[in-house]
Amino acid sequence: MAIKYSEKVIEHFIKPQNVGEIPDADAIATEGSPACGDMITYTLKIDPDTRVVEDIKFRSFGCASNIATASMATLIAKGKTTDEIKAMKHRDLTKSLDGLPAVKMHCSVLAIEALKSAIHKWEVDHGYAVDEIIKLDKKEVWKALADVLNPRTGLSLIEAKLVNKIEIEQDEGRVFVELLLCDMDELYAEAIEEEMQEHIHAIPGARKVLVQFKRCHHSGMHGPEEHLV
Ligand code: FES
Repeated sequence: MAIKYSEKVIEHFIKPQNVGEIPDADAIATEGSPACGDMITYTLKIDPDTRVVEDIKFRSFGCASNIATASMATLIAKGKTTDEIKAMKHRDLTKSLDGLPAVKMHCSVLAIEALKSAIHKWEVDHGYAVDEIIKLDKKEVWKALADVLNPRTGLSLIEAKLVNKIEIEQDEGRVFVELLLCDMDELYAEAIEEEMQEHIHAIPGARKVLVQFKRCHHSGMHGPEEHLV
């Protein structure tokens, strides 16, 4: 089945804004999505006194949704302070683009997390943040997901056995979760992902959260791999 995109997504894919590299950039970050292998790089000029982003460019080695969300991210970020950017959510990008298909939601997460990663590096370099590495634990992720409910069934993702895979990259503070998504839950995918992002981000040390949906054609309970935790 063909994926349906909003007109704004198509517009930003065809004519992306702020593409390229700033040669004497103050901040730079490249991030990839473990969900699909796509990559994105941002370069930024940031005023050290006001902490305002004066210029920003991106290069995407990713899909149409990633190009569109990165393009929108640069438009939103320009003129904002680093604190304002840190408060941005992937949902801000998707709303500005009139939505993204559920299976493409991770593209907007990659776009925003890469941008935040560049900001974080700049803040560490300028003494505004410490580069602390806190050990992430799958059990903490498991516990966080026990508080996320499927709105259709009222069961938590753990009770309903929808969590298929959890991976952690300690150095990056990255958490990857693969979730089984039944046809009947398609409507709730965005809401579920939003809740997952919120709960996992609340875990100390979780700086990047990537959620991938794995389609299944059942409506009931599933057996997750027992080795998850
Ligand atoms: Fe992975 Fe879009 S960034 S499919």
